[in-house]
Order: sequence, then structure tokens, then C-alpha cells
Amino acid sequence: MRPALVAACLLFLAPITGSVWATGSHVVMDPWMVCKKARKMRGKLADICRNETELLKQVARGQAKGVKECGYQFRARHWNCTAQRRSMRRILLKDTRETGFVNAITAAGVTYEITRACTAGKLVQCSCDKAKGGGGGGGPIGGLSGNAALPPGDWQWGGCGDNIRYGYRKSRDFMDARYKRRSDIKILIKLHNHNAGRLAIKNYMKPECKCHGLSGSCTLKTCWLKMPTFREVGNKLKDEFDGATKVISSNDGKSFMPEERSIKPPNRANLVYTENSPDFCEANLKIGSLGTQGRHCNATSQGVDGCNLLCCNRGFSQKTVNESVNCRCRFKWCCDVTCDTCIDRRVVNTCH
Ligand SMILES: *[C@@H]1O[C@H](CO)[C@@H](O)[C@H](O)[C@H]1NC(C)=O
Ligand SMILES: *[C@@H]1O[C@H](CO)[C@@H](O)[C@H](O)[C@H]1NC(C)=O
Ligand SMILES: *[C@@H]1O[C@H](CO)[C@@H](O)[C@H](O)[C@H]1NC(C)=O
Ligand SMILES: *[C@@H]1O[C@H](CO)[C@@H](O)[C@H](O)[C@H]1NC(C)=O
Repeated sequence: MRPALVAACLLFLAPITGSVWATGSHVVMDPWMVCKKARKMRGKLADICRNETELLKQVARGQAKGVKECGYQFRARHWNCTAQRRSMRRILLKDTRETGFVNAITAAGVTYEITRACTAGKLVQCSCDKAKGGGGGGGPIGGLSGNAALPPGDWQWGGCGDNIRYGYRKSRDFMDARYKRRSDIKILIKLHNHNAGRLAIKNYMKPECKCHGLSGSCTLKTCWLKMPTFREVGNKLKDEFDGATKVISSNDGKSFMPEERSIKPPNRANLVYTENSPDFCEANLKIGSLGTQGRHCNATSQGVDGCNLLCCNRGFSQKTVNESVNCRCRFKWCCDVTCDTCIDRRVVNTCH
């Protein structure tokens, strides 16, 4: 190993072993392993590994963020995006809708954290774009695209906007640079879904404005672009997951098209996949399924969290648990809060 790289790796490893490592998100794409493999390479990825330690930290944080959001969005599904090593690794070797979602949400997480670090001034290589409120890129409306709406009335760009262009580019440099064989359908799909994840932020930048002038008279209004919340990004990608398109390789092998001709071709923001998902009802580690045995379900819901669906009609057992909770809290002048202890009875249903 070259000295510069050793230093970068060690610096980089320290924060990861503490937090991100423990969540198991390294299974998705361990930046340290990626850098280890990249050490003999040239190009953007190798440059990032060599001398952008702070950026690598944001990559790791972004992945953890993506996996966490995946767990939230899939909390009531048969496969709940658990970051358990074997399950996630198997899922990522496939090319199902779940694979596509994980790839998209982690690429989005990386974009998000890099952009946020940039705005916070943590990265020496970038800053928020004061001129165009961070969106940047030609024309008076800067990087506004997608569903972003411009504020009405008189205003001008100002303040410190989120530099989404930088986050987008660096996420792509790090996550996509390794994949050279663009004629492999699985790689095409992975890159497409990575990009769809990044667009779930880039296309939904929102203007935020501030009034200036005597006692809020708003004689001057400045606006900048801000990222949506990561929950909004997750919701958007979950919608894309629900409407994902099954595709097949085109004749030239360099693109793909919907398996069913009647379906409209996916756009850049849509998720795509080539393999049908298993039902994840029974544990089968070969396919990354932990099964739904032992999962908690809702006996009155008809949705995916309902006991029939979640337990795959195997039935469930019901148990009442008593939980002590704080209740009837009172504020006493000054400055104390006292509460009683109440017993909260809850019914817990567990899948057979
Ligand atoms: C990283 O190092 C390479 C040479 O090893 C250099 O060309 C590049 O400008 C450096 N990048 C940064 C951001 O310092
Ligand atoms: C996710 O599923 C696994 C395996 O079925 C289970 O052990 C875990 O508790 C579930 N997580 C949540 C948040 O429900
Ligand atoms: C169970 O589902 C019902 C109907 O969808 C809902 O009203 C209720 O809040 C759910 N209970 C829990 C504990 O989530
Ligand atoms: C819960 O509390 C109820 C009374 O409120 C009692 O009848 C029941 O036995 C308790 N259950 C458990 C598991 O402690």
C-alpha cells in the first residue's frame, strides 16, 4: 500500500468502526473495501480514496442513512430491509425491485450527506452556491427542475443554498466509477437506479426565502434552493418502487426496454428491475429471505402490515402486554414536571 493511501484508509476507518460499521450498512457498499480495491486504479474514484477523507466519511454516513430509511419504508413488508449481513448481500446479488430500491436509496443517501456537508462547510472542496442559491447551472432559474416551484413575486437568488450539483456529481463519481462494463444489463440497471435515487433529491429541490427590509416589510426578498427532507426522498422512492418497471435487455445489449410492450418506457427517475421477487414468506438465506415468522402484525389492518398478509396466512398468536408509561404529566412552577405511572395494555400479535 502506498503511504498516502494507508493514511487515508486509517483516518477513514476510525469513524466508521464506531458508528456506521455497527449498523451493518457496510454490507451495501463498504467504502473502505471499495477504496482498497481502487488502490491500483487511476481516475476519480482513486482520487477520492486518496485524498478526500472527509468526503468518504460522508459517503459512509449517507449509506447508513439510506439503509435506515429503507428500514422505515419497508417496515411492514415481508422483506423489511433488515441490514443483516447475509440477507442484504444476497438481495444485492439479485436484480429484483428490492435490489433497485436499496441501490437507489443508498445513492440518494450519499448524495444527501455530501450535499449537506458541503452546505455546512465541512468539505474544503466545495461550498454552498451563493450566486444561484446552490442549484446552479445556467439560466435565471438555476438548477430548478422537476416539480420545484418558483416563489411568486419579486425576489433574487441569495443566501446559502444546497449545492446539489456537487453532491450529485461526487455520489456518481464514487458509486458509479467502478462499473466499466456498460453492456452488462445488471450494471446498466444498477447505474440507472443509482441515478434515480439521486434524482429523487435533485428534481425536488425547494426554494426557501427570507424577507429583508424595515420591520419585515419585505422590500427585498432573497431565495435559495434547499433539499427536500430525507423522509420525502424515501417516500418518493417508495412510490417508484411500487410502480417499478420490469425490463429486458435490448438487442444491442446497451440499453433496456419494458418486458411488456404495452408499458410505457421508464424515464430516468423510475426504478427498473429484471427479476421477479420471491415472496419472502419463509426463511431461505439463499435468496436473502429471513421469513416473516416472529414478526409483529396488526390484526385489524387489511394492508401489508395486516396479520393475514404479513404472516402469509400461517396464523398468529395474540398476547397482551402491560407496559408502564408516564401519564397525567403536570408542570409545576417552576420548573418541574411530575407524572404518574400508568399501565398501558397493548395487544401484540406475532406471526407463526
Ligand atoms: C488528489 O490527489 C491527486 C494526485 O494524487 C491530485 O491530482 C488531485 O488534485 C488531488 N485532489 C484533491 C481534491 O486534493
Ligand atoms: C425485520 O424482519 C426481521 C426478520 O423477519 C425481524 O427479525 C426484525 O425484527 C424486523 N424488523 C422490524 C423493524 O420489524
Ligand atoms: C392497526 O390497523 C388499524 C387499521 O388500519 C389502525 O387503525 C391501527 O392504528 C393499527 N394499529 C397499530 C398498532 O398500528
Ligand atoms: C395486565 O394487567 C391486567 C390488569 O390490568 C391483568 O389482569 C393481567 O394479568 C396483566 N397481564 C400481564 C401479562 O401482566
